[in-house]
Amino acid sequence: MNNIGEIHNGAILFGDRIEWVGTAEDARKMLINEAFIPEVTIDARNKTVLPGFVDSHTHIIFAGDRSEEFASRLRGATYKQIAEAGGGILKTVDATRQAKVADLTNNGCKIARKALLHGTTAIEIKSGYGLTTNSELKMLESIAELKKKLPANVSTTFLGAHDFPPEYKDDRDAYVDLICNEMIPAVAEAGLAEFCDAFIDEGYYTIEQGRKILETGMKHGLKPKAHCDELADVDAAALAIELEAASADHLLFVSDKNIEGFSKSETVATLLPGTAYFIRMPYAPARKLIDRGAIVALATDCNPGSCFTENMQMILSLAVINMKMTAEEALTAATLNGAFALGLSSDMGSLEVGKLANLIIADVPSYTHLFYHFGVNHVESVYIGGMNITNNLK
Ligand code: NIG
Ligand code: FE
Repeated sequence: MNNIGEIHNGAILFGDRIEWVGTAEDARKMLINEAFIPEVTIDARNKTVLPGFVDSHTHIIFAGDRSEEFASRLRGATYKQIAEAGGGILKTVDATRQAKVADLTNNGCKIARKALLHGTTAIEIKSGYGLTTNSELKMLESIAELKKKLPANVSTTFLGAHDFPPEYKDDRDAYVDLICNEMIPAVAEAGLAEFCDAFIDEGYYTIEQGRKILETGMKHGLKPKAHCDELADVDAAALAIELEAASADHLLFVSDKNIEGFSKSETVATLLPGTAYFIRMPYAPARKLIDRGAIVALATDCNPGSCFTENMQMILSLAVINMKMTAEEALTAATLNGAFALGLSSDMGSLEVGKLANLIIADVPSYTHLFYHFGVNHVESVYIGGMNITNNLK
């Protein structure tokens, strides 16, 4: 993760895909030799060209507002207390159930556009604020609509197992049955999701329930990934590793045993430091995971309750300062490893010949300045598939 292959005075030649990368001097020679004149030349002197960020974990499709809950947390309430009092995720479920597809799409698009302006070029989006078959399908349809409007790569995850709906609060297993017998088959049949996720944690889904849901998803062709050990160590990461999940996300309380498990596994440990920051929890043990050789990715978790930011540069800052990652590790985690978690690393996540030209130009003289000069947006332009999409986003 530390070997990022920085090129000083570099040049990059691209159409929709990257055709050549090297030094400016070699580029000049190559162009003269081949008598090739590029259609457009972009002057990025004193700037830094990076692969676009891959945000592999978000919940940006929702309705309503949780700012009051946030204010009460500032006065001392905890995320857990608010959830136990019927607020939290269920507040957003209430608003989302009443919303129309178009409203959900527009709200999501607004957030996604800001994410792109901050350098994100691929984004994963989950359902999970409907918790009925119809409203989960409605959320997934609005992600499909957003996909048509947004120039970025969008990956879709079914998260019917985000919380238990109020109708099933006294019979949680019956809701698990509904997910397995009705929701997953309907989602798979409609071809509306690629991944199936579950929130396996204290007070939410048990290991047994999580296993049933993820295995049913697998039978229907949905790749497993999971929210694991965010609020307590319930050994959820072990299940994700055993099922060879694409990723296990959060991991604030992951055990040493499971850190060892990641080191022998291709399941990505996706860390979401914005959430630890926003709900004032201890950060995930990034150093331990990386030092043992786990594949670590970084993502925003952008959602209205536990982390409301779509800005990957903020996540990078938190990762290096509060999780003690190096700048290079953070960049790898936010690009190539995020792409790997979504099964997209052969097409994106690094500036390599043959990959899509998904890149950002940051107005900083080196990538270190992205971290050194924090709290502002350094991304000047965003290219997706070789097209400068920056002006279409404003
Ligand atoms: O990833 N952990 C569960 N779900 C979200 C929180 C969603 C919410 O509070 O609305 C998360 O932190
Ligand atoms: Fe999440």
